[in-house]
Amino acid sequence: MTMRLVAAELVDSRQILPGQWLQSFHAPELASGSRAGQFVHVRTGDYSGLVLRRPFSINTADPATGIITLHFRMVGRGTEWMTRVREGERLDMLGPLGRPFEVDPRSHHLLLIAGGLGMAGVRMLADEAIRDGRGITILFGALSASHVYPSSLLPDEVEYVVATDDGSLGHHGYVTELVPDYEAWADQAFACGPQPMLARLAQLAAGRRDRLGVAKLGRKRGGGKSDPLGSAAARRKSFLQVSMEQTMGCAVGACLGCTVIGVEGPLRVCREGPVFAAEEIAWPASA
Ligand code: FES
Repeated sequence: MTMRLVAAELVDSRQILPGQWLQSFHAPELASGSRAGQFVHVRTGDYSGLVLRRPFSINTADPATGIITLHFRMVGRGTEWMTRVREGERLDMLGPLGRPFEVDPRSHHLLLIAGGLGMAGVRMLADEAIRDGRGITILFGALSASHVYPSSLLPDEVEYVVATDDGSLGHHGYVTELVPDYEAWADQAFACGPQPMLARLAQLAAGRRDRLGVAKLGRKRGGGKSDPLGSAAARRKSFLQVSMEQTMGCAVGACLGCTVIGVEGPLRVCREGPVFAAEEIAWPASA
């Protein structure tokens, strides 16, 4: 899988939620070479002519049509500029970047947990899992009903469960409160969202074996030698993998502007991540 600089042609652009956009680009090289969890670095402009680059999770990638989609919130000049790009125009995209989610071949049931725009970080994994015959439940949390990711944009096979902070749709409360109902069903979990949400999920994952009574998967998978922290093999065996959202500068590992604290030292989200096994991260103790 090689990183490429491609000229991606905008083929569709729509606002799917207040301030949130879904854009489709024709970029066959990215559509066939990307995996769930990876991202692209997009060169944007603004009206002063300033060039900016922004990282975006690859939301979906369809090798058959050559289309990738990006889902983003309009938060500043770069993303505002993107919402004004017209169909047929081309954007420079560098990608695919970063390390993908790793699914254990023995996992039949995947639990995806997303908070807000975190849906963009896990969305593609649903397509990959369905392609591979796995069961998928997505737990999604948002402020209120008007911020809930539309179910019409998800594959029919997905079980979709929603929590809202104000109770206007689904469970009244945090999405993390839904997790205990699914932890026995799920073979692995994958999450993207605000850091407090991820920290809480890491805490739940750490206590899961005890709550379930047996080291259900750990015993099967743990056998003998352990894989080095940070390796794809270690992620594959981990119950919980998280995609970290972090401000980025260079996106290729050079500027150190994207570091998070890992249990063995600083980690660059753009290079060692954005996907990490939950055990790799030094979570704040207060979660
Ligand atoms: S963004 Fe520069 S090192 Fe990650």
